[in-house]
Amino acid sequence: MIRPHGSDSLTALLVKDLVRRAALEAQAVKLPQLIISSAAAANAVMLGAGYFTPLTGFMNKADALSVATDMRTSDGLFWPVPVLNLVADGHGIAVGSRITLRDPNVSGDPVIAIQEVEAVEELTDEEIDLITQKVYRTGDPGHPGVATFSSLGKFVISGPIEVLNLSYFESEFPDTFRTAGQIREEIAERGWETVVAFQTRNPMHRAHEELCKIASDTVGADGVLIHMLLGKLKPGDIPAEVRDAAIRKMVDLYFPSNSVMIGGYGFDMLYAGPREAVLHALFRQNAGCTHLIVGRDHAGVGDFYGAFDAQEIFDEEVPSDALDIEIFRADHTAYSKKLNRVVMMRDAPDHQKEDFVLLSGTRVREMLAAGEDLPLEFARPEVARILMDHYAEDAAQVA
Ligand code: ADX
Repeated sequence: MIRPHGSDSLTALLVKDLVRRAALEAQAVKLPQLIISSAAAANAVMLGAGYFTPLTGFMNKADALSVATDMRTSDGLFWPVPVLNLVADGHGIAVGSRITLRDPNVSGDPVIAIQEVEAVEELTDEEIDLITQKVYRTGDPGHPGVATFSSLGKFVISGPIEVLNLSYFESEFPDTFRTAGQIREEIAERGWETVVAFQTRNPMHRAHEELCKIASDTVGADGVLIHMLLGKLKPGDIPAEVRDAAIRKMVDLYFPSNSVMIGGYGFDMLYAGPREAVLHALFRQNAGCTHLIVGRDHAGVGDFYGAFDAQEIFDEEVPSDALDIEIFRADHTAYSKKLNRVVMMRDAPDHQKEDFVLLSGTRVREMLAAGEDLPLEFARPEVARILMDHYAEDAAQVA
């Protein structure tokens, strides 16, 4: 199977041994306590679940700056996005101490990890701007990722962590949440060798379904991993449980059996477009996938990125030996009224825009909210039904 990033084996920081975990939980109560941000808790979950192999904890300032500018840690490890525990005030945190990190995403802020504090460093405003510009390619506070990042604080608390649980993901999404190790095991059990990962934070319509099938056929894959984000999203995005139900319905009805694995990971969406696409590739490699689909406006938001910036970064900025996973670069995909099937636009060069069934996300939301049927060429009716029920429930709650 494909090697994890920068390592022969996964570095999963969740303490597996239950006796040791209980001992650490007992110690954690007595250590200095720090309620961390949702972003830091999401990093802890990714570190715990092996997705961020070979990192062993939170980055320091030098690594964060180096990763932001050159996509390498100070030691030369390829890495696209700083993995930080940022806090508003680091003055009371002693270098050399062990501290208990508490999870803001679960009621009562329970313990999630223990961190060994190697350094407490303050970022200057210029350094924060630099990181923001490099990672998000904008400093606009209207960008949801920038807004979150700039709210986290300036103090970088770095050092290794031991993770004691994977937050709310295992209990809230028991059938869907998977660690990188679990996905690797399942790939091995299924006997798959070539595996295409599909990243998503949305319900899947016909274009997405076809994208998975086209990618899988093109690379001769044994199967597809539909790997959905289960963490925080911006307001207006569809909640994970609804997406999960819609995706499962689509897979049950429209994919051959044993051709798809459905899984989810516990991370908050960054909306960092190209840089996030590279992170997506890296952690799918850690999960044992050989290919990642990167299509139109991957991990983008609004008009902050060009439609194919997230593909170009792999050609222009990611050294060819940085990752082993390969990128399946997908063109804009939509239903062709001329050909009566979903196609990638590059495969239909004679088409005009009007030859495709194209609906903006906003239009889709409006139609669903109004209880209108989505065109059959755009969405599978069973999937649309799940989404319509969600919007109807939402409307009933507001009323
Ligand atoms: S993302 O933020 O997780 O990237 P989304 O779930 O909408 O958002 O997209 C998942 C993947 O499908 C991404 O690789 C994206 O580029 C691709 N994609 C979505 N819609 C299309 C489309 N119509 N044509 C081509 N690629 C698409």
